[in-house]
Amino acid sequence: MDTVTQRVEPVATGPKTFDAERARADFPLLSRSMRGKSLVYLDNAATSQKPRHVIDAIHRYYETLNANVHRGVYQLSEEATSAYEWGRAMTARYLNAPSPAEIVFVRGATEAVNLVAATFGRQRVGPGDEVLVSAMEHHSNIVPWQMLCDERGAKLRVIPMNERGELVLDRLPDLLTPRTRIVAVVHVSNSLGTVNPVREIIREAHARDIPVVIDGAQAAPHGPVDVQALDCDFYAVSGHKMFGPTGIGVLFGKRALLDEMPPYQGGGEMIRSVTFEKTLYAPLPMKFEAGTPNIEGAVGLGAAVDYLRQLDWEAVARHEADLLAYATEAVSDIPGLHIVGTAARKTPVVSFTLEGAHPHDIGTVLDQEGVAVRTGHHCTQPVMDFFGIPATARASMAFYNTRDDVDRLVAGLHRVREVFPR
Ligand code: ALA
Repeated sequence: MDTVTQRVEPVATGPKTFDAERARADFPLLSRSMRGKSLVYLDNAATSQKPRHVIDAIHRYYETLNANVHRGVYQLSEEATSAYEWGRAMTARYLNAPSPAEIVFVRGATEAVNLVAATFGRQRVGPGDEVLVSAMEHHSNIVPWQMLCDERGAKLRVIPMNERGELVLDRLPDLLTPRTRIVAVVHVSNSLGTVNPVREIIREAHARDIPVVIDGAQAAPHGPVDVQALDCDFYAVSGHKMFGPTGIGVLFGKRALLDEMPPYQGGGEMIRSVTFEKTLYAPLPMKFEAGTPNIEGAVGLGAAVDYLRQLDWEAVARHEADLLAYATEAVSDIPGLHIVGTAARKTPVVSFTLEGAHPHDIGTVLDQEGVAVRTGHHCTQPVMDFFGIPATARASMAFYNTRDDVDRLVAGLHRVREVFPR
């Protein structure tokens, strides 16, 4: 199975090109107009649009299958349970997890990291210990570890990055100390687009028996992930960034670790038996799924990965590389524009500043042109501090974006330049 990590190696040039126009037809929202123009949606790192396959699956779920799961002995509940577990099995396959039991449904990558920090982290981290993150983490892969370190009297340490927005891995051997208990690193940076060499980081950490948590929220939308090839201990994804619904995500964890971890939340569904004296917990993955779960979310996520499964990912990789190269070159012609994040390995994300225009002003003018980009610190304030800027404007592309979208972005940026001359 293809992985994001493998995909960023040069891809053998094959005859097939990816038909982005055809893919666009599967996403109803992409045909809407905005400000009197056709919408150009370039905020995929914030959330992706949904194919009709996902919308229909959720619709069908409520029209024909809705019942609570794992509770009823009646047919409808069994059908709802099958649909919910189908979502889990499909996601396990997309991540190449050895077993669906290692796939825990959560609200999103944020909750996945919080779950690991609050359970595994509390078990492992004590006074004087260290948790190692990287300089380009999303706040969701910093704050939970900071909270844990504060609680435990431990120290948060940081793998630095260079001016291109690449991790300085030469520093890794020194940063992996006898006190390092957990490494938590982002696979793909949301604000820079950098694809990190997580396999190498995992190898280095494992050589010292240190477990690794990977935040894969921005990697999974760019191709199937192989958690077995990566050999990560935990991998977190968000459904809404991978063309599925909001409010659902997945934590992959190695069975041996999940088995040893205490539950995250208590309640119904996660127990085997309860008395006032003692509760025995349910087997994996139910131990981590207290309460009625997000059933339609699981069904929608299953439909999303079912949709993604049929894409030709090598062709998508070439298409996304082309979009990145085309956009990088085109925006570079705008006077006073500086790209933030120029790593050798990137997903199609172009983060930038424009002299004389605040990123929010850029976003507002682009919106008038029907072009949606995100502006701000992108929940990565340490990244902004590193570059000495408060914010960037960020165009983040998905496989359904086209060179025409990039042309509209560039035309919009020329308009920004007119409104805010240098
Ligand atoms: N983390 C999301 C982003 O990068 C919300 O925009």
